[in-house]
Amino acid sequence: MRPGQPRHYLMCRPTYFTVSYEINPWMDRRTPVDTPLAVAQWERLRDTYRDLGHVVETVEPVAGLPDMVYAANGATVVDGLVYSARFTHPERAPEGPAYLKWFADHGYVTHLAEHVNEGEGDLLVAGDVVLAGTGFRTDRAAHAEAAALWGREVVTLELVDPRFYHLDTALTVLRGNDGGAPPDGAHPALAGGGVDVAYFPPAFSPAAQEVLRERFPDALLATEEDAVVLGLNAVSDGTHVVHAPRAERFAAALRERGYETLGVDTSELLRGGGGAKCCTLEIREPAGAHATHLGSAS
Ligand code: ARG
Repeated sequence: MRPGQPRHYLMCRPTYFTVSYEINPWMDRRTPVDTPLAVAQWERLRDTYRDLGHVVETVEPVAGLPDMVYAANGATVVDGLVYSARFTHPERAPEGPAYLKWFADHGYVTHLAEHVNEGEGDLLVAGDVVLAGTGFRTDRAAHAEAAALWGREVVTLELVDPRFYHLDTALTVLRGNDGGAPPDGAHPALAGGGVDVAYFPPAFSPAAQEVLRERFPDALLATEEDAVVLGLNAVSDGTHVVHAPRAERFAAALRERGYETLGVDTSELLRGGGGAKCCTLEIREPAGAHATHLGSAS
């Protein structure tokens, strides 16, 4: 396997995972959840990242917060600056402070969000801009708040299909999601500092589709077949892409583009409406500090 660029991830074991409320079309309280299976799948995902050379830290799960496994929603970290989550639904509200506390305890500079936003579920770093979803969860006002916090351009993208309620269910940043320029001597896949994305166009409003077409003319367009198994809820380190194994066409298209694909089954976590990316919060250090912090965190 080719070496990728080491990443720093935060995850939360699905110890208390279940479906006890319904806040997206994937959730159905009548189907029983196999929590031990969810835990086994989550462990496999965590181990896959570690095998790829990434540092994975974990936040303690909280009883009564079944969706806390979806770490991507817990915050967004760019240049070491943590923008807290503020959830739409009261059922998930306590997750925001739980994640923020982890970051504060670990010495990060934190910013308590004023506006509703569901972390990396809707805020995706793509090169030096942040792509931001809205329509179901994250408020547009949070896009402006995040732009001011990080001093980065935030590009608003409206989501229109309730099955793809978070941006990370409709779009994957394949390259350029690390928040910094590629280091000298980086793998050829990273050279040029280019951004590469994949998305499912019908999940977006016509205006957002236009923005995406203009910004990413060479993007990989996913099919409905791949989108409905949450194939786009994938995690890329710029070289390897961890994805839902059922997204077969998507995986083949990724390989054609030069990525190495790793199918990791997260089917039990799909009962809550999430996949690999939902379970993974990326910690982006300030430029230059990355290696140092990675060293101290392991
Ligand atoms: N049940 C959770 C919700 O509806 C799933 C969150 C999935 N996370 C994500 N990053 N898309 O809020």
